[in-house]
Amino acid sequence: MTGNKVFIFDTTLRDGEQVPGCKLNTKEKLKLALKLEALGVDIIEAGFPISSPGDFESVNQIARHVKNVTVCGLTRAVQKDIDVAAQALKYAVRPRIHTGIGTSDLHIKAKFNSTREEILERAVQCVKWARHYTDDVEFYAEDAGRTDNDYLARVIEAVIKAGATTVNIPDTTGYCLPSQYGEKIAYLVNNVPNIDKAVISCHCHNDLGLATANSIAGVIAGARQIECTINGLGERAGNTSLEEVAMIIRQHKDLGLYTTIQAEQLNPISRLVSDTMRMPVQPNKAIVGSNAFSHSSGIHQDGFLKNAQTYEIIAPEEVGADSSKIVLTARSGRSALAYRFQKLGFQFDRNDVDVLYDEFLKVADSKKEVEDSDLAFIAKQYQSKAAVA
Ligand code: KIV
Ligand code: ZN
Repeated sequence: MTGNKVFIFDTTLRDGEQVPGCKLNTKEKLKLALKLEALGVDIIEAGFPISSPGDFESVNQIARHVKNVTVCGLTRAVQKDIDVAAQALKYAVRPRIHTGIGTSDLHIKAKFNSTREEILERAVQCVKWARHYTDDVEFYAEDAGRTDNDYLARVIEAVIKAGATTVNIPDTTGYCLPSQYGEKIAYLVNNVPNIDKAVISCHCHNDLGLATANSIAGVIAGARQIECTINGLGERAGNTSLEEVAMIIRQHKDLGLYTTIQAEQLNPISRLVSDTMRMPVQPNKAIVGSNAFSHSSGIHQDGFLKNAQTYEIIAPEEVGADSSKIVLTARSGRSALAYRFQKLGFQFDRNDVDVLYDEFLKVADSKKEVEDSDLAFIAKQYQSKAAVA
């Protein structure tokens, strides 16, 4: 294992792109790959080369143009897949082949109609085959989240012996609780004799909304790579969100971990991915949602205006977001109203604001958000009444 750096393996262009409607062409994929390189990710999973000629071409172009990070291609535990991935990655400065197979009893029976011993053998053979092409081979044990720990440990030991340098422990169905996922990683750390020869990777899905929590539990237990996507895109409910894990690791210095992510690029790349994939970001999404730095309740606004840190643990500029917003709704208070009037150039004292607040509430109760134009109207009406009196 490798000290305290957590490697960020971005799979926006593979697991993220599998989402219906998110498909990208080669030009779009290459553009995003160059932005991911600038963001500071360590590995870009560029695609699944055997899946289509278009994806082969995308992986090939990314391998040719992205020079400073590892470029990875996904395969099944099938020789032909591995041959094609190696071909697509031919010009990469640092090529990685990501190969693997389902290891839970359910996958072994329902998908492969096979046995644990046969699957273990296939796992070993695919890693050995991939090692003919590159010394950077990652093995995934699909559905590791529901795989018996004892058997998983045997598979992981065998694939490391066969040459895997990263071992991916996917919670493919997003089933695990953070404590269970953390215990699974700890089990591997403590029961796989050659585990020090490989990096353990977390690949968590979000079916129960636990992908980020599980990935963090994984690195606390000893994993040193997180597989994640911009905006948490990915199959079904998505994958671990890159921006969330990067900021958790940055905020929680107590974890003693770090990544090389350039945080100020998180919001710009989130918008670019959302626009390119035509997949809107939910407003309340952590770090990159449009409400992530908006304050609308009176109690919060009052505290925020006295000291932003009362209600913000991250400054928006740190993650490249627009400045914090004071949004006026019927739940807002006088401090926020006075602040917004001041920003619009109106100077009112406390007594004025008390009167104006009643007028403001009438408007606020009739609409979702009070806009600058509503405030200007209220203020001018108040001023003209005062002038007549
Ligand atoms: O979720 C999963 O198990 C995967 C593997 C192919 C790594 O995406
Ligand atoms: Zn996945």
